Amino acid sequence: MNKLFNEDIELFFKKRVKSETIDLIIADPPYNVLEIEWDMFKSELEYFTFMKKWLIYAFDSLKEGGTLYLFNTAYNSGKLISIIEKIGYHFIDWITWYKKDGFTGSKKKYVNNQETILFFSKGKNWKFNYNEIRTPYVATERLKHAAEKGILKNGKRWFPNEKGKLCTNVWEFSSERHNTKVKGKVIKGFHPTPKPSKLIERIVLASSDKNDLVLDLFSGTGTTTFICKNLNRNSLGCELNKEYYEYAIKRIGVK
Ligand SMILES: C[S@@+](CC[C@H](N)C(=O)[O-])C[C@H]1O[C@@H](n2cnc3c(N)ncnc32)[C@H](O)[C@@H]1O
Repeated sequence: MNKLFNEDIELFFKKRVKSETIDLIIADPPYNVLEIEWDMFKSELEYFTFMKKWLIYAFDSLKEGGTLYLFNTAYNSGKLISIIEKIGYHFIDWITWYKKDGFTGSKKKYVNNQETILFFSKGKNWKFNYNEIRTPYVATERLKHAAEKGILKNGKRWFPNEKGKLCTNVWEFSSERHNTKVKGKVIKGFHPTPKPSKLIERIVLASSDKNDLVLDLFSGTGTTTFICKNLNRNSLGCELNKEYYEYAIKRIGVK
């Protein structure tokens, strides 16, 4: 079952989500940075109050051992960690999404080409399918040697894993605006900030199993629901904007 609802996040939690039923939450909320109606808040206080409110509902919805991945800017993420810990979540990691291409060119500071994904759990016994998200080794010459004879490590012979190395917490994925360039030119997409499918796939594989129940919060173009459907995970999602919602249900073929 994969379902999307065209409604505000608070109403969505009240109407659709039961306590302690969710295995994984992927939340891609407004960042309070874009000049676009759904991303603008009157003040930082208003923004963080909004964030805290739905994060409390989200905590209640998680099963013990369930996890939350939260996208944001590095600045907001820094401020959010203590707010989120106070709700009761256990902080696991700060993942940096390195987007390769930079955005606003700046001559006063470094050009930003990263976003943050905060990784939390409810309780300390969370699921992590590390074998599902291995990535290719880099040092291929050394690896060839290691594959044949093994490398001596702490008195034992180490052989490379055929699926690749363990995944690190710096993730390289081109942003969608880069992926969809035509003849090198950025084309204005239907949605300003869709997330790359491959990035969402890594999260879903790492932190859920088949038939688990995933929440796609602030679903936008429905990337998370799309991946959940392909990977046989159940999902529930919400998106306030009617046009984005309609685009998402057409893309995924769910309602
Ligand atoms: C950063 S975008 C999500 C993009 C999405 N991850 C994707 O891949 O397309 C945030 C989305 O949150 C939606 N949104 C903003 N406020 C909301 C609210 N109160 N309840 C539900 N959705 C909301 C916006 O319309 C926007 O599409």
